Amino acid sequence: MTKRIFNFAAGPCTLPLSTLEKAAAEFVEYGGSGMSLFEMSHRGKQYDAVHNQALESLREVFGVPDTFEILFLQGGATLQFGMVPMNLRAEGKTFEFVNTGAWAKKAISDAKKVGPTRVVWTDEANKFTRMPKAAELKAGADAAYLHVTSNETIGGIEFSEYPDTGAVPLVADMSSDILSRPVPFARFALIYAGAQKNLGPAGNTIVIIRKDVLEQCREDMPAYLAYKSHVPDKSMYNTPAVFAIYMMKLNLDWVKSVGGLAEMDQRAGRRAGILYSAIDGSGGWFRSPVDAASRSRMNVVFRLPSEELEEKFIGEAGKAEMSGLKGHRSVGGCRASMYNAMPVEGAERLAQFMADFQKRNA
Ligand SMILES: Cc1ncc(COP(=O)(O)O)c(C=O)c1O
Repeated sequence: MTKRIFNFAAGPCTLPLSTLEKAAAEFVEYGGSGMSLFEMSHRGKQYDAVHNQALESLREVFGVPDTFEILFLQGGATLQFGMVPMNLRAEGKTFEFVNTGAWAKKAISDAKKVGPTRVVWTDEANKFTRMPKAAELKAGADAAYLHVTSNETIGGIEFSEYPDTGAVPLVADMSSDILSRPVPFARFALIYAGAQKNLGPAGNTIVIIRKDVLEQCREDMPAYLAYKSHVPDKSMYNTPAVFAIYMMKLNLDWVKSVGGLAEMDQRAGRRAGILYSAIDGSGGWFRSPVDAASRSRMNVVFRLPSEELEEKFIGEAGKAEMSGLKGHRSVGGCRASMYNAMPVEGAERLAQFMADFQKRNA
């Protein structure tokens, strides 16, 4: 029997067993073709069906309105740090950013290379321990767009309410919480995400862009970088990431089969609730370093009384078949990442382990 452990890694991360099993079963030969899906032309009928199903399923499960185009690109969310400003650049306009931590900073750094960039809100002085309230954010009259990072994967903070930016396009990096809750699409102009957390394995990047915003996008750049290049052939301007897209399609089938977005939302709430209760109920022995109202449901960061104990905790958790609990190297501590495919039992097992570990070491 295959041995599966609870994998709390921040991404790539755990995938549903049924997705992996389905892929394994049809890996070598796909649909009676005498070859795998990954050996055939991406312009053929069989891959075309997979590609279209992936696009349709994402639209259906995430509730993406018809007023938005969905693009499948490569280069990860990281390439979007550059592509967003390159495409949405406009004479006399400034790129505006909410600086919420490590990932926002990377997006800001790339935007600066493209054009005038301004940070409208930052919590750097407090080491990025909270997200702004919607009322704290106001887009400038000269803004090309306002960019937010919906969930800071390293810092463990997540937006709970998005600002209303009026006519200024709101852009979000949703790499680490896409498809974990319903999104008010009416507020957004562009959403992007690497697929490798909530959607599937690495290799595919999702861009969901409002059609009127797409219409305004620039084209004076190498073809791949222009969003408009990817529209006519439904994200097959060049060879798409066939394996990643196929896996995402299987994953979306799984999401639908267990109850869709509402179920993902519910599970995320339950998993996070279990872990934050374990932290809050430890009498301060385990400690969440972030503002309670900004706590991420995807990445639960926590500290123990000392770095030695943190190291021991991570080591013993590994032996107890819970991996990936080390915090990001830039901040240290512990981090439990719990994306869509993490069963609620994973959070329960970890909470139990935390209580036992405290008893043995306090
Ligand atoms: C919030 C966020 N943005 C961007 C990235 C970068 O994504 P990619 O590795 O797909 O370029 C990550 C990766 O973890 C992330 O968590």
